[in-house]
Amino acid sequence: QELQLNLEQIEKGGYEHFMLKEIHEQPTAIKDTYRGRMLPDEGIIRMAGVDDNLERIANAKRILIVACGTSWHAGLVAEYIFEELARIPVEVEYASEFRYRNPIISEKDVIIAISQSGETADTMAAIKLAKEKGAFAFGVCNVVGSSISRETHAGAYTHAGPEIGVASTKAFTTQITVLTLLALKLAKQNGTISHTEFMTYLQEMERIPSKIESALEGDEHIKMIADIYKDARNCLYLGRGYNFPVALEGALKLKEISYIHAEGYPAAEMKHGPIALIDEEMPVVVIATKKGHYEKVVSNIQEIKSRKGKIIAIVTEGDTEVRELADHVIEVPETLEPLTPLVTTIPLQLLSYHIAVMLGKNVDQPRNLAKSVTVE
Ligand code: G6P
Repeated sequence: QELQLNLEQIEKGGYEHFMLKEIHEQPTAIKDTYRGRMLPDEGIIRMAGVDDNLERIANAKRILIVACGTSWHAGLVAEYIFEELARIPVEVEYASEFRYRNPIISEKDVIIAISQSGETADTMAAIKLAKEKGAFAFGVCNVVGSSISRETHAGAYTHAGPEIGVASTKAFTTQITVLTLLALKLAKQNGTISHTEFMTYLQEMERIPSKIESALEGDEHIKMIADIYKDARNCLYLGRGYNFPVALEGALKLKEISYIHAEGYPAAEMKHGPIALIDEEMPVVVIATKKGHYEKVVSNIQEIKSRKGKIIAIVTEGDTEVRELADHVIEVPETLEPLTPLVTTIPLQLLSYHIAVMLGKNVDQPRNLAKSVTVE
């Protein structure tokens, strides 16, 4: 018994929970994911699974992304990135819906399955279906040799290392990393971005780990915010563009481990419903980084404020405009707009982690949830 306990403590590497350890592992996990693939000096991205099938993937008429849970959120971020950089139309679907709705799939389609475990039953079934209809199947998995990685024609692993906490953290950011590399590679192949832009992305990607390090330094401040809002019954998360899926992911993290009802919304959709919920009891987490429709998000914040909602804003370092309006601001370093999800996600992970710990919940193994869902 004692030995077992000690072993677990060693595995947690000095952290109180696996989730916290995995949150802190993100700078390394991302580096491990791009290392050897991204070669800024040579100006290339090398990914064996893509290089071997470059024509097929780059000439895709459409990219279909199927996934579940957090991986589905990574897919949504990827949709924005692929369409912006590679100009290939993308559709993102819940694997469970896709497999049961007689989807239209052609041989010109490329289907990407995103799955940390590589074992999710619905994602696996979606891949099999698309393959039967002639699509090229590409896997983005974390677990080497997993079922989905074997079922797909090609793939690229996320090198996140084992993820033990049921709430996914480093798997999410490494999935976005792999998908960004893929988008950049296709963009270069198809000439949809210039060489200079391509190089700028590579150089900025290399700075992401240290930018995440500085986002992690906000931990104590985030803990203080967590203490103020831990007894909330509901919480709203808003973001636009690349940060809309981050809002969904932030809300999912909070629900999963603290059991507080949370919803993510595209900020502009607030007026079509969620605004009715806003009163002085309602914390609203708003991702309001510079660029990305900043002014529009600022006006969304004003709307919340005039209804007395409590605003927790994720802002770019040095921001002054939102600081004047929000109840709390959490700063993250500035980066290229398509890469912002990699940094804005960090404070949201920490916020839900601290709230769950303060509420005495089982952070690593939340009730009713499984790390991988291998049944329907
Ligand atoms: C479960 C886990 C989630 C995960 C989802 C998809 O619901 O609790 O954290 O995002 O499955 O898992 P996958 O392994 O396919 O990424």
